[in-house]
Amino acid sequence: MPINRESTAKRGLNPDRMPKSLAIVMDGNGRWALERGKERIEGHLRGVEVVRHIVTECCELGLDQLTLYCFSSENWKRPRRELEFLMALLKQYLIDERELILNQNIKFRMIGRRQGLSAEVLQELDETTRISSENTGLTLAMAINYGARGEILDAVQSLARRIKSGELDPDQIDEQAIANSLYTAGMPDPDLLIRTAGEYRISNYLLWQISYSEFWFTHTCWPDFDVPLLHQAFRDFAARERRFGGLITHPTV
Ligand code: IPE
Ligand code: IPE
Ligand code: MG
Repeated sequence: MPINRESTAKRGLNPDRMPKSLAIVMDGNGRWALERGKERIEGHLRGVEVVRHIVTECCELGLDQLTLYCFSSENWKRPRRELEFLMALLKQYLIDERELILNQNIKFRMIGRRQGLSAEVLQELDETTRISSENTGLTLAMAINYGARGEILDAVQSLARRIKSGELDPDQIDEQAIANSLYTAGMPDPDLLIRTAGEYRISNYLLWQISYSEFWFTHTCWPDFDVPLLHQAFRDFAARERRFGGLITHPTV
């Protein structure tokens, strides 16, 4: 999908220097709530509203890919009550957003380990994936029960199985073969990675895929993240010089 030049122009963004693939670590829901004397779950509820606005804006601007970190494989360490709330919220989100996903031509997919998620949640994930599979607009990937090391481990196991069955020769394994064995197979690597709530860490997110992503951090907690801040991240991204290890068209010395 090409970047929408009309939408970017309206917002004062440079269409030729937009990220096409964006990944976000949506962090700080709990802190946002506690700072306001509310329960942590109130932050998650508010966070879902923000997801809706950001997804819509990414569609409007014509991004190819938005990858949201919704639930990590380490988040199971949280109290049972919060986990139950998060899973119920996820299920409800998938049901409530289905119409909007279809209307916005979004192709939905889940990245993460299925094992460990309830049958109910898997059913809603599969349904949203199925009904949106022919859509051609923004790909919305939700990282759920996701951990990058687990993803790499699963990829290694699947490659090893293919070798054992004689389908694959070890010498045939190249970077593309590894990328194709990850949950993100076929998805573009993130150009830009945003993390909210003032943490400067990756927390087991997309380790393989972010090798050359630009990072952008804000102290704002996810429930207060908004479209103007997203635009700020895009403006900062536009000013970055990506080199990929090479040199940028300077005359050779
Ligand atoms: C991010 O917010 C949402 C999830 C990890 C599910 P947190 O719940 O991590 O909020 P903080 O970081 O504790 O404030
Ligand atoms: C990362 O945030 C996971 C999600 C945003 C879903 P965490 O809040 O789990 O990360 P840590 O524990 O601060 O590293
Ligand atoms: Mg957190």
